[in-house]
Amino acid sequence: MDLTVRVRDKILTNPVAVASGTFGYGSEYEQLIPLARLGALFTKAITLEPRVGNEVPRIVETPSGMLNSIGLANVGVQRFIAEKLPFLSRLPCAVVANVAGSSVDEYLEVVRRLEEHPLWGYELNLSCPNVKEGCLAFGTSPRQVESLTQVVRKATDRPLIVKLTPNVTEIATIALAAEAGGADAVTCINTVVGMIIDVKRRRTVLPGGTGGLSGPAILPIGVAATYKVARAVKIPIFGSGGIMDTEGALQYLLAGASAIQIGTANFADPSISQRVLDGIAAYLAENGLSCLAELRGFIA
Ligand SMILES: Cc1cc2nc3c(=O)[nH]c(=O)nc-3n(C[C@H](O)[C@H](O)[C@H](O)COP(=O)(O)O)c2cc1C
Repeated sequence: MDLTVRVRDKILTNPVAVASGTFGYGSEYEQLIPLARLGALFTKAITLEPRVGNEVPRIVETPSGMLNSIGLANVGVQRFIAEKLPFLSRLPCAVVANVAGSSVDEYLEVVRRLEEHPLWGYELNLSCPNVKEGCLAFGTSPRQVESLTQVVRKATDRPLIVKLTPNVTEIATIALAAEAGGADAVTCINTVVGMIIDVKRRRTVLPGGTGGLSGPAILPIGVAATYKVARAVKIPIFGSGGIMDTEGALQYLLAGASAIQIGTANFADPSISQRVLDGIAAYLAENGLSCLAELRGFIA
């Protein structure tokens, strides 16, 4: 059975990846699961300078999900290269650096610095505000998405994946902009904007007000977005959002994704990716299918 996934000129051994920000820098999970069996490991966001992140609480549980406002806390590209990459570069699975920034130049500089080091590819997190252009998230404007993708494209021949925010009017338009800018794949979707109010204290639970909703609550949003995007672009899609089991992963693959990312579910069960991988293989076998591509297109 062929479980491989092709992105640009590179191959993932299987379609089950772990999502950025939910799997640290990999070493945290080393004792818990065989990392070699991951299709890909997407790192925590990497910015040019280290970031301490937002005030606590940064995470709050919601019905069927969680709301987070981590604020891109990370060690910055220099320490990432010095302290995290030595471990990551020894891993037999694909390692994708999730890159974030507050300007086009910042994204570009992070990628330039990483180019000298072993990595499988990059994922651009476009949910960050563009400080130079009115602070709206990069990912909400097709023009900004296309130009940021174009700039980073020129700096690398590695697979370039653009992560789409669902907090837009028409996600397929944004995906088309990423494709036009030279992206090799898109991730569909990042977290959904949400807010929780503590009625006793009459204030928002997260100090910053809103946060990103993830977990099972957003599965149907991600599946619908993937379905729309798959009909608009030719490049592969990483389906992400609310996958808690094999069935959730299969929904994304049937909607048109080529691979999937598991995020929040890793917190509840670090071995979830392994069970989902086995579950996908079993589903293909039970249904007489020999490769993942045969799953796509079932949903008209
Ligand atoms: C605690 C936390 C931190 C996250 N950090 C990042 C990040 O640094 N970069 C990014 O692109 N996405 C980040 N995400 C979004 C996830 O990668 C994923 O796209 C999203 O949570 C939806 O998938 P899920 O419902 O399976 O968690 C984060 C999500 C959570 C819950």
